Amino acid sequence: MTQGLNLSADGNLEDDARAASVSRIANALRAGAEVSDSAFDALLPRRYRWPSQRHWTPVVACRDAAAWLAPEPDSRVLDVGSGIGKLCVIGSLATAATFVGIEQRPHLVTAARALASLLDANTASFLCGDAFALDWREYSGLYFYNPFAEPLFPEPMRIDSTLDHSEAGHDLAVKRLLDKLVGLRRGTRLVVYHDLGCALPDGFERIEEKVSGHSSLELWIRN
Ligand SMILES: C[S@@+](CC[C@H](N)C(=O)[O-])C[C@H]1O[C@@H](n2cnc3c(N)ncnc32)[C@H](O)[C@@H]1O
Repeated sequence: MTQGLNLSADGNLEDDARAASVSRIANALRAGAEVSDSAFDALLPRRYRWPSQRHWTPVVACRDAAAWLAPEPDSRVLDVGSGIGKLCVIGSLATAATFVGIEQRPHLVTAARALASLLDANTASFLCGDAFALDWREYSGLYFYNPFAEPLFPEPMRIDSTLDHSEAGHDLAVKRLLDKLVGLRRGTRLVVYHDLGCALPDGFERIEEKVSGHSSLELWIRN
């Protein structure tokens, strides 16, 4: 889809081609038409493209996850560790629901807000901070794409080196995650892409499972 488009020196699409590409991609996401990850990623500043394959959810999985998480127009979805905002932006364009991302790295929040504004994803918004400081009970659906696994990756595979990447930090995150999950309201939907970092506690039922993009997607409901 991006083939033939001109790139400026910093690797960004030149203005006219970029505007056409942006509106084509936004319309396709609204209509449920195919959008490749490379076309979507070309909308991102160059520094956020390389992590895409490992750290950002593929377009097709964002769509599948959004459909499971947002069955009603008044659904409110939280992406726990929202990165550059792919799930929230695509969910906002593809459904009538509200999507909120919480992300600890300020530069990723800035990129996510810019992406939402570029694509007119008006029901997507982003908070900067620690996901554990939020009240997850305010949301009808929660999304997780391996948010706490980064410390377990070798250095070159990490998004950057700005965080505590100790094993103890990872273990603490998993403990806090389990505490949060136990406290969720009945009926809360959870979608897990690839891995959560731990088994879900008692009281969650797996409703759906499929392969989407390069990995597995699961829908769980809190009983
Ligand atoms: C694998 S990326 C997933 C990004 C996005 N959810 C997606 O699927 O495209 C995980 C993100 O979680 C963020 N993260 C990890 N722990 C966090 C925490 N405690 N609070 C907020 N963000 C966190 C990381 O900074 C990283 O950007």
